[in-house]
Amino acid sequence: MEQAETIVFRQMRAGDIAAVQAIEAECFTNPWSIQAFADEMKNPQAVTFVAESGGRICAFINARIVLDEVYINNIAVTMAWRGRGIGFALLGEFERALPEFVTFITLEVRAGNMPAQGLYRKSGYTQVGIRREFYTEPPEDAFLMTKYMEKNKEGERS
Ligand SMILES: CC(C)(COP(=O)(O)OP(=O)(O)OC[C@H]1O[C@@H](n2cnc3c(N)ncnc32)[C@H](O)[C@@H]1OP(=O)(O)O)[C@@H](O)C(=O)NCCC(=O)NCCS
Repeated sequence: MEQAETIVFRQMRAGDIAAVQAIEAECFTNPWSIQAFADEMKNPQAVTFVAESGGRICAFINARIVLDEVYINNIAVTMAWRGRGIGFALLGEFERALPEFVTFITLEVRAGNMPAQGLYRKSGYTQVGIRREFYTEPPEDAFLMTKYMEKNKEGERS
């Protein structure tokens, strides 16, 4: 297990792409390529945040902003850093950095991915639907989860 160090949360830079793609390849059966992440950096709708410790990238989150909606493509924490609050902290930092006009966030998660579902529920997301056989490699249903930002801001004020 890695030693505890200060974690920095920030936007992905070009120099992070190889490390981010390595985490992607470690975590997913059909990973995005280096080129796909490079293309994200040129896409004005794309946002990719990383968590960095001691100069090493240990997690990332990638999303798209379309009008007032955010769609989270992916969040991943490298194996050695899991279970230490980094996913939760990264998602929170990402949400706080979103523009004020964003009203809700949506995502899909594998029906059997309990760690990710736990992370999303803890972060205020609720399941609003199922997409049958959404995933391949292996085939699996997706749970559609959503979080309304205005409601949360009002919740914080009350
Ligand atoms: C899902 C993932 C990002 C969680 O990151 P993490 O840094 O390990 O999570 P955290 O330590 O911040 O935990 C936050 C919450 O997630 C849930 N969680 C995390 N690991 C869990 C596990 N092994 N089993 C069950 N719930 C878990 C818990 O609800 C936890 O809150 P708690 O500690 O108060 O119980 C990480 O497991 C991962 O990268 N998985 C592979 C990639 C992936 O599946 N991404 C999601 C795609 S939709």
